[in-house]
Amino acid sequence: MGGIFGFVCREPRDLSTVNVGLSRLIYRGYDGAGMTWLNDSLEVTKALGDVSKTPLKVNGKSKVALGHTRYASRGWPTLENTHPLLDCNKKIAVVMDGIIDDYEEIRERLVKQGHKFTSTTDAEVIPHLLEGSRDYLKSAIDIISRVRGIYSFAFIVEGMDKAFVASAGQPIMIGLGDCKYISSDLPSLTGFAENAVILPENSVAEVTPEGVKVYDININVLSPQIKRVKYKEEIVDKGGFPHYMLKEVYDIPSCLVNSYTSLMEKYLSLAAMIVYGAKNIYVIGNGTSLHAGLISYYYFSEVGINANVVSAAEFPYYALQNISTGSVIIAISQSGETSDVIRSIKMAKQRGAVIVGVTNSVGSRLALESNIYLPITAGPELAVPATKTFTSTLVVLRTLSLYTGLNSGKKDRKDLEAFEKDLEELSKQIYTSLPQIEKQAEDAISKVEKDSLYITSSGINFPVALEGALKFKEAALAHAEGIQLGELLHGPIALTNKGYPIIIIKPSEEQAFDLYNKVVKSLSDRGSPIISVSPEGSVKSVETSRDLSPIANVVPLQLMAYKLGVKRGLPIDTPQGLVKAVVS
Ligand code: AGP
Repeated sequence: MGGIFGFVCREPRDLSTVNVGLSRLIYRGYDGAGMTWLNDSLEVTKALGDVSKTPLKVNGKSKVALGHTRYASRGWPTLENTHPLLDCNKKIAVVMDGIIDDYEEIRERLVKQGHKFTSTTDAEVIPHLLEGSRDYLKSAIDIISRVRGIYSFAFIVEGMDKAFVASAGQPIMIGLGDCKYISSDLPSLTGFAENAVILPENSVAEVTPEGVKVYDININVLSPQIKRVKYKEEIVDKGGFPHYMLKEVYDIPSCLVNSYTSLMEKYLSLAAMIVYGAKNIYVIGNGTSLHAGLISYYYFSEVGINANVVSAAEFPYYALQNISTGSVIIAISQSGETSDVIRSIKMAKQRGAVIVGVTNSVGSRLALESNIYLPITAGPELAVPATKTFTSTLVVLRTLSLYTGLNSGKKDRKDLEAFEKDLEELSKQIYTSLPQIEKQAEDAISKVEKDSLYITSSGINFPVALEGALKFKEAALAHAEGIQLGELLHGPIALTNKGYPIIIIKPSEEQAFDLYNKVVKSLSDRGSPIISVSPEGSVKSVETSRDLSPIANVVPLQLMAYKLGVKRGLPIDTPQGLVKAVVS
């Protein structure tokens, strides 16, 4: 798995271009990186580690080059397993993103035929399958037709001033600029191309300096989707911040408004009608997207809709059996590529469900598989710990619930206007308070000596505690547990001895205030170090309405996790062993 970036040009281009593209794809993997290009012969260089920190050592130019940054999902992070991977004659170099399911059988067959493998990756079967081909286009089509899995790959061949690019479900696109740029995502093409061809599932492109020709598996020429590359350079770069995570937290205020204004009335109304008319509703997602889904339970309840919120990983085991015609799945995925989500919606579709997708990635598999999708529009998020996409997803889900409320009669246009006003106000307040919250987060976290902590709240802010705990695990490699205030008293409080830190988010529901006060008192009596998150807390969140309070409260938690990661000197944006989109 990983990220692919390369170019095909009429005139030789600096090879360092590939380093720039790979750095922008670093969120896809950072176990190792490699590059291949054509001189008189096929050249290859590889290195272990994070290419955004240590660029590949390349000098000179070439008309054709391909690079890869790797997440070691199949095979250890060794130089041998780092892409590009070559055929036996070292004439074909392949980079691949995704997973091949039946690679063991294929490899066994190829070994029996005499092929010599040098790595333990699934991807290495591709160069050997291409070996000896007389027609690389046909051979690539043959691979995507026969080899099972979800993957995309690109390859170059000694003596050919072109590249071949194939997609068997995993996204890959070709930017159309002064050169043709091959990449795993759209944002990385910023500054290189204004438009990009998105390769459809099960297609192969022949990329020459003159153009891109795309074929389906029957070798028919396709006219694929062309998307605009509309990101600003500062969005794909760190913009002066030391880490993407911090930058992306600072992006939150502008993203909140942007996410709301980018939602189109006609799609919202349609999605709301679908949700309102559903026989049953399941909201699915993983990690941060699941936590946003859990908050939507409160949003939908308020408008008289019962939404079942289930991890996309668990959905097939028990919820799927309740799905039939009339069911609606609200599928949330920032990347739009997470396997659990894609697998679940495919199964649900087969049983007749309608899919409402919520994703930050317009060309993603979720967007393509959904009957209707609502964009998160938070811009590219490059740190593995998700921040601004969580808050923007909440904006989308709250808006959808309000539109659903228009159908159920529980909300009217005035509620929508009030939400819009509250959101604008919240965005302004977060914008002005961020430096202060950052400082308070740093001070608060400097007192955390232990490697484990609780984060607690109640009601609509309980999923925020779960989300905060996830951020501590990813950014600070600290164990944190999100727990409901009431549940704390049923055993877990036993651990809150002196020195065991606890972050308490003040609930937004008045009914929970008594419990909140009781827990705070009991913890103070025990001498537990308490960090309180509220408009009056030790780390102050911005005052806002109940429905927007999860956004206000998560920001201090994100910053505390970030600061602890910094204090521990951790690679916050690229935590070891984690990858932005979990594709398995
Ligand atoms: C969030 O910080 C994590 N990196 C992770 O839990 C993530 O939210 C999860 O893998 C789901 O990703 P998705 O939204 O792209 O589907």
